Amino acid sequence: MHKKIRKAVFPVAGMGTRFLPATKASPKEMLPVVDKPLIQYAAEEAVAAGIDVLVFITGRTKRSITDHFDKAYELETEMEQRGKEKVLDLVRGILPAHVSCVYIRQAEALGLGHAVGCARPVVGDDPFAVILADDLVDGQGSGGALKQMVDIYDRFGCSVLGVEEVPPDETHKYGVVTPEDIEPDLWAVKAIVEKPDPRDAPSNMAVVGRYILTPRIFDLLETTSKGAGGEIQLTDAIAALLKEEQVLAHRFKGKRYDCGSKLGYLQATVEYALKHPELRDDFGAYINTLCADRLTGS
Ligand code: G1P
Repeated sequence: MHKKIRKAVFPVAGMGTRFLPATKASPKEMLPVVDKPLIQYAAEEAVAAGIDVLVFITGRTKRSITDHFDKAYELETEMEQRGKEKVLDLVRGILPAHVSCVYIRQAEALGLGHAVGCARPVVGDDPFAVILADDLVDGQGSGGALKQMVDIYDRFGCSVLGVEEVPPDETHKYGVVTPEDIEPDLWAVKAIVEKPDPRDAPSNMAVVGRYILTPRIFDLLETTSKGAGGEIQLTDAIAALLKEEQVLAHRFKGKRYDCGSKLGYLQATVEYALKHPELRDDFGAYINTLCADRLTGS
């Protein structure tokens, strides 16, 4: 039996420059897709995978994330008095009672690898998950991306990276792996490189914001020097890890939206709205009219 994955790390200290000015005073992880912030989708995916400790690596302007997962006494009292039971359930049910949140402040934004390293005092000697909330994954009935990766971890007991094929000219946006076949949707990672130029990329199999890592990564992060973009890269520490341990890449089922880009964020918003029980009919009708008008040029 391998140690159970109970902790997930959410690096949320990035600057969110691609969404400025929206992210000047509030974190990009609080951008809503329809009616839930990105960080809540990520937390729900972790909880669905059996995780009960959420570790947020925060930076400046991140108070709203802490507030979001805290009890909102004033709001709850007000809703209680007005008899708004449905709203009350929404506010109270953000996380199940057995889940706890830990916040670690990353004093300097030195990169994703550095952010993950900050979780060491809480994660200790346990294997753990990392979720990048701006990669939103609609699990489409398959139990969530992280749950699928935890199932792989339970079988093999080693680190697992969530991957998907990206257009070959987009490798410079991702960590890219050299995969070796194991079984459908599962590969051994032979090498990994951060943001390779398409001409040098070993494949178009890219890491997309979901990781299960063994605690050995913490030692390796401590000796990882600055890499691509002058940042301490998680990818570089994983490259060192796979010289010592097996690392797998799993193509999970589900649709990923790159909510770190405006286009991906808008695609997620439209598609989640088209599935939202309160909105789908009216919003669907609106989109149909809009498309018809564009086609006819009116
Ligand atoms: C980070 C990682 C990269 C990964 C990507 C997934 O890059 O460094 O390896 O492929 O997330 O979204 P970022 O998007 O923060 O530049």
